[in-house]
Amino acid sequence: MSVKDYIRTIPDFPSPGIMFRDVTTLFGDPRGFRMAVDLLLHPWAGVRIDKVAGLEARGFILGGAVAHQLSAGFVPMRKKGKLPGRTIEQSYKLEYGTATLEVHDDAIKPGEKVLLVDDLLATGGTALAGLTLIEKLGGQTLGCAFVIDLPELGGRQLLEAAGHQVHALCA
Ligand code: PRP
Ligand code: HPA
Repeated sequence: MSVKDYIRTIPDFPSPGIMFRDVTTLFGDPRGFRMAVDLLLHPWAGVRIDKVAGLEARGFILGGAVAHQLSAGFVPMRKKGKLPGRTIEQSYKLEYGTATLEVHDDAIKPGEKVLLVDDLLATGGTALAGLTLIEKLGGQTLGCAFVIDLPELGGRQLLEAAGHQVHALCA
């Protein structure tokens, strides 16, 4: 079984015509979850990683497991208004309107090496906002790792054009 075999597609969620990639079946399988966490790290084998940043919400599940695997710290990047301490923010475009991502302003120290993790890359707007926040805090971005890339939405091009390494396990 490959990682892709553990992911199910739910038609018409959250709206008609959308084929939603549901990773809860991957997370729920002991072998699948372990395989995904191990494979996400492959390009950075032997590289020092100080912190893993995870994007709300499914990036918390994956990023937490990846950070634990590395004995690295975990940094939650949250939708606006959820973090209790002092934050910095970055807005990004959605299909309709905009959204804002926040991180605690002391979550990453200047010079720390940070890997960004999320479940899925679509337009790349969310990930680019997360990478921008890491850099605003003086962190060094090592790249970003996703379980799924939806290549027709152009996220990889957006992130690579901004100079970021992109790793995805399946399309
Ligand atoms: C999904 C997915 C990514 C993001 C990708 O999260 O988990 O974080 O969209 O989209 P993009 O590449 O076009 O920016 P969503 O915004 O649905 O949030 P959730 O995990 O809190 O449901
Ligand atoms: N699954 C999860 N998140 C998403 C998807 C999807 O298919 N498309 C855009 N964000």
